[in-house]
Amino acid sequence: MTRYKVKDPELTRRRFINVATGATATVGVMSLLGTLGGAHPMFRMTEDKKPPMEGDILVHADPAKEGTPITVADLGTTLVQAWPMGTDAEGNKIIRKGEPNNLLAVYKFAAGELSGEANVEATIDGQVVAYSDICTHAGCPVPDAKDGNGMFCPCHSGQYAPKQGGIVVGGPPPHKLAQLPIVAEGDNVKVAGFFLTPPYPYTDEATWEATKEAAKGA
Ligand code: FES
Repeated sequence: MTRYKVKDPELTRRRFINVATGATATVGVMSLLGTLGGAHPMFRMTEDKKPPMEGDILVHADPAKEGTPITVADLGTTLVQAWPMGTDAEGNKIIRKGEPNNLLAVYKFAAGELSGEANVEATIDGQVVAYSDICTHAGCPVPDAKDGNGMFCPCHSGQYAPKQGGIVVGGPPPHKLAQLPIVAEGDNVKVAGFFLTPPYPYTDEATWEATKEAAKGA
């Protein structure tokens, strides 16, 4: 029997998503459709629901400055939440927040501080690193720990170490946070490819691979 009892983890997850991003209650439905879009071809994967794609620019998710490109100068050891922003076939800018699980966590650490399972090749200068900001346990957005020691999921006390590649250091999460490869483009942070490992809600490589192919072909 698990130590962590959850009456309704999906409702809990949505509540925290709404708090974290200022989204409305429709977000939960959109999340479901977005996930289905990845897993089931019968659902069209629209641009706003695609996972972060190569060439996307990271923009602030904070409602006060949502859509503003994140610059390296904006970043530090405190988590900055981001959305990937791409373009549609007509060249219009699309923030990919139709899938709430696209929420990202971005940090800049001092040179040499990233270690463990962090893929330094997928960072900017070994200092700026991006992860999925969605807990791999039941899908809550993960803020910084209040004591400044890593990230702490408020839903069931999952803990992650962003300096060590987003590994799990406490609580029930089954997997580390997926790292998103990034590069600098001028002052901006650009996505260099898909998540290096399956992000929430994907639990297996095959489904995640199918989703990537669907996103490329949509
Ligand atoms: S959702 Fe359960 S620990 Fe994060």
